[in-house]
Amino acid sequence: MNIKREIIPGTDGNQLSIGIIGGGGQGVALARRLAQLGHRVAIANSRGPASLTALAADIGAMPVSVVEAAEAKDIVIVSIPTKAVLDLPTSLFSNVPSSVVVDTSNYHPQTSAMAGSMPSTAACLKASG
Ligand SMILES: NC(=O)c1ccc[n+]([C@@H]2O[C@H](COP(=O)([O-])OP(=O)(O)OC[C@H]3O[C@@H](n4cnc5c(N)ncnc54)[C@H](OP(=O)(O)O)[C@@H]3O)[C@@H](O)[C@H]2O)c1
Repeated sequence: MNIKREIIPGTDGNQLSIGIIGGGGQGVALARRLAQLGHRVAIANSRGPASLTALAADIGAMPVSVVEAAEAKDIVIVSIPTKAVLDLPTSLFSNVPSSVVVDTSNYHPQTSAMAGSMPSTAACLKASG
């Protein structure tokens, strides 16, 4: 398998503006590493930025709302339980400047109680404009 590696220039040189929606195991691991690499990381969860103050300070990230995280200029990472994608604001991605949206979620239709009714994040993003 050929894997193509490409350096994506950020809006501010090599420092990327990255918004992470999800402050659990995956979101925090990504936020911590990306902040260590020198990127500007904003992180959000379902309970609001005040609940992330201490964690974000430890990581070196900025605690923000979900809407603010989606406004990151270069990359938005959605790292929440798949079924929670349906709880995100429907217009969340309507006017965001990011060119790259990454979804870390795993969807297991064989075991999911939502099998057959769960749209992909891509479908949600398309529906929200
Ligand atoms: N690709 C991989 O290798 C891999 C590996 C492991 C997991 N995953 C997937 O990555 C996703 C995250 O996993 P995880 O282990 O980090 O989950 P987790 O530890 O349960 O954390 C979930 C996070 O999502 C937030 N959240 C839930 N609903 C939200 C909403 N409506 N708006 C904003 N934030 C919301 C939660 O915020 P609150 O705490 O405030 O509710 C919490 O911070 C899951 O879909 C999982 O299947 C992928």
